[in-house]
Amino acid sequence: MKICFLGCGNISQAIIDGLLKRGISTSDIACIERNEQRVESLSAQNLQIIELENLASMDFDLVVLAVKPKDALSAEQNIFKMAPKAVILSVVAGIGIEKYSQPGAIIRAMPNTACAFGKGVTALYAKDQNSTAFKTANELFNEVGHVLALQNEDEMHRFTSIIGSGQAFLFQVLNTYLQEFEKIAPIDQVDAKTMFQDFVSSLGDSFSQEHNFESLINKIKSPGGTTQAGLESLVKNNLDKILQDAFQAAEDRSIEISNEK
Ligand SMILES: NC(=O)c1ccc[n+]([C@@H]2O[C@H](COP(=O)([O-])OP(=O)(O)OC[C@H]3O[C@@H](n4cnc5c(N)ncnc54)[C@H](OP(=O)(O)O)[C@@H]3O)[C@@H](O)[C@H]2O)c1
Repeated sequence: MKICFLGCGNISQAIIDGLLKRGISTSDIACIERNEQRVESLSAQNLQIIELENLASMDFDLVVLAVKPKDALSAEQNIFKMAPKAVILSVVAGIGIEKYSQPGAIIRAMPNTACAFGKGVTALYAKDQNSTAFKTANELFNEVGHVLALQNEDEMHRFTSIIGSGQAFLFQVLNTYLQEFEKIAPIDQVDAKTMFQDFVSSLGDSFSQEHNFESLINKIKSPGGTTQAGLESLVKNNLDKILQDAFQAAEDRSIEISNEK
């Protein structure tokens, strides 16, 4: 599997990190990147930096389009100018397949940065899900985590809000925990950092043992106790609604971006 990333910022780096951890060779990965700082960092990782002009001659299975939405449509057209037979895997949020100049040659993906640890959750959509390219896209994201193939492209908006943006919502919540924790244990102390790190990763460990949050909560809470008091406060302050509103806002913005282009 030979992959070229056009736009090698945060999300490409996460996918590349995951691929390298799985033993994929740097010789099977190429990067087209215009940001000089990023080019320096990619070169330091021994990744090949190529120019758009080299695309056609290098015969990639997929060209991953990973630029900001504002840059996506022009970048897609430039790819097809240089390599008319390219198959593009777009990870760009909010831009539907029909907005591109060649919808039949586009696969959409919505990965998250957990790909870096082999724990990504990626939604995939293409008009033709039986093509070799769609199978290659599945293979790529299975290397770095899990794949959910969507039957309807509109579901990408909801997926983006929960798994894509939603990861950041949880970070935001955990940051509140961290700020409170820091009041009693300054995080620049190594022990406190490790403590908090283990606290966060143990949440995943607990879920892997028991796939039911209600029963996990019940193991912590006792009637009339501290947990019960805190949980009642969360219910009273409508935590569910706060999060549902955040998902809705992200989904609405994804739809809005798709209508802007
Ligand atoms: N970050 C995530 O967690 C995530 C998750 C899923 C999907 N996405 C999607 O992935 C896309 C990229 O996000 P990101 O966070 O990785 O952005 P990013 O860190 O800004 O990376 C994009 C990189 O592409 C470069 N670039 C833009 N146009 C280019 C071109 N024509 N040729 C070569 N390089 C070009 C940019 O350079 P400049 O700095 O000069 O612009 C930048 O270094 C977005 O559309 C986003 O919606 C992101």
